[in-house]
Amino acid sequence: CGIVGYIGWRDAAPLVVEGLKRLEYRGYDSFGVATENGEIRVVKRSGRISENGADITALGGTIGIGHTRWATHGVPNDTNAHPHTDCSGRIAVVHNGIIENYAVLKRKLIENGHRFASETDTEVIAHLVEEHHRGDLLAAVTEAVRHLEGSYAILVIAKDDTRIIAARKSSPLVLGIGDGETLCASDITPLLDHTERAVYLEDGDIAALTPARIDVYHDGVAVERAVNHITWSVDDAKKGGFEHYMLKEIYEQPQVFYNTIKALEKDSRLSMLRIPSEITVAACGTSYHASMAFRYLVQEYTTKRLSVELASEFKYYTPPVRDMVIGVTQSGETADTLAAIEAAKARNCPTLAVTNVLGSSITRSADWTVFMCAGPEISVAATKSFTAQLAVFMGMVNVMADGRFTEPLAHAHRSIERVLSTDLEAAVGLLGSATGMFYVGRGVFYPVALEGALKMKEISYIHAEGYAAGELKHGPFALLSTETPVVAICIPGQTYGVMLSNIKEMKARGAPIIGIGVEGDTEVESVVDVFVTVPEDHPMVQAVTVSVVLQLLAYHTANALCRDIDKPRNLAKSVTVE
Ligand code: G6P
Repeated sequence: CGIVGYIGWRDAAPLVVEGLKRLEYRGYDSFGVATENGEIRVVKRSGRISENGADITALGGTIGIGHTRWATHGVPNDTNAHPHTDCSGRIAVVHNGIIENYAVLKRKLIENGHRFASETDTEVIAHLVEEHHRGDLLAAVTEAVRHLEGSYAILVIAKDDTRIIAARKSSPLVLGIGDGETLCASDITPLLDHTERAVYLEDGDIAALTPARIDVYHDGVAVERAVNHITWSVDDAKKGGFEHYMLKEIYEQPQVFYNTIKALEKDSRLSMLRIPSEITVAACGTSYHASMAFRYLVQEYTTKRLSVELASEFKYYTPPVRDMVIGVTQSGETADTLAAIEAAKARNCPTLAVTNVLGSSITRSADWTVFMCAGPEISVAATKSFTAQLAVFMGMVNVMADGRFTEPLAHAHRSIERVLSTDLEAAVGLLGSATGMFYVGRGVFYPVALEGALKMKEISYIHAEGYAAGELKHGPFALLSTETPVVAICIPGQTYGVMLSNIKEMKARGAPIIGIGVEGDTEVESVVDVFVTVPEDHPMVQAVTVSVVLQLLAYHTANALCRDIDKPRNLAKSVTVE
């Protein structure tokens, strides 16, 4: 979910609506806004704010809060949409996170006479604030959050109160200092139009916002929080002329790779990576695939041992953690990855975060952080953040291998640039009306295949499975027919010969093959139906260029199918619950 607040001299509702549109990637099954205008006015409903929210701007008032939801408790409908109010309708709350003890709190509040309208965990917060409200909203929220277990970033407004009260614990919240106005949001994208000055709240902070100032309290004591200069521009967060954010973000990758490698070169702390000999990496989704590629590179080019775990499984079998645990997460907010870092800390293991978002939760919890320089990624399907993660990992491998790869990494952006113009019309045509397909590769191209398949299923809804090519014979071969296209990655190197044999075997079962190989490879070209090439380069760089080609293949396929590319059904960009 995403939350936004505005307090200042302008009409709040239109600004809150604009902010929510920027946060729709965090969830978009329902939305709502509340303003204070001598009374609390609320408009909320299911659906997307960008399609269904035009009338909100008439709410009036210069204090407003809003929410765009991805349902966790209670189906997405008008009643369960935020903001939630207390019985009297004098207090309104928006919330991102999960209140774990809400059922207990709800029971007690009902015993005390509170009537509930929704099935959400959030509504208990509104009633709790009402329960403790003795005329001072700050005091009431401070008391209310004492009773909450779980995670929350909340914004609260009340009738006749000229403040927004904000509180956070384990969910992100950033404040923006404008000119006679103060904003707040789940991330900085809604702030970019209005200010370059941001304050990141710490876990347990409660802030009182007025147009002119921000007062932050921790454990009841006033505290100072640093003002950060925002370096992302408004343009960074807009589509920049591309039809979809996803395509824009794919095209940013040469720059993103270059920037990330350059930033790493300047980061002297990376030399610390020479010390640990056993490293565990925990991540989810695309970040997990990038981490798997890291494992292949570390095993091939260094003497270290590196294991990769799904962060969501980490807690169930407590893998042996030794010298360092790395949490990899674009958003810095994925609940399972945060939990893995906490588990490592509990076992006194040093922790490192690899993330794209300054001030995100993981940066507070890990011992140190390496940033990927991808800029804001808006499209739900991760593309440039994957490439930035690969850049970080390749930069790390370079440090571990005493600078052996400085040269190829410094030039990688040129090859990435070249593959952006790959002609994929024949490949998209070959997929035709396929409902199921495979991606296969070996070595580092196995995680690349997994990520290619993930992109395809996320945005085109075609059932695509990534496989280590050697595993095909252990089951998937039974599915091969003329109706199941296969994308096979066959790049010169250790895996080339056996991949070529695998392609021939699949061809013999009638499967149409899209072969991905290097320019001029007539051998692969002669056995596949459609041949797509990447430039010859260092094998590490080819892992990136092939990934970019597979992103483009998914994009063009989904576009031909008229899918909602930037907001695929049922998915959210950031999964902040387990
Ligand atoms: C969600 C997103 C994916 C992303 C995953 C992990 O599922 O839709 O694109 O890979 O979360 O996100 P993170 O922010 O931890 O990298």
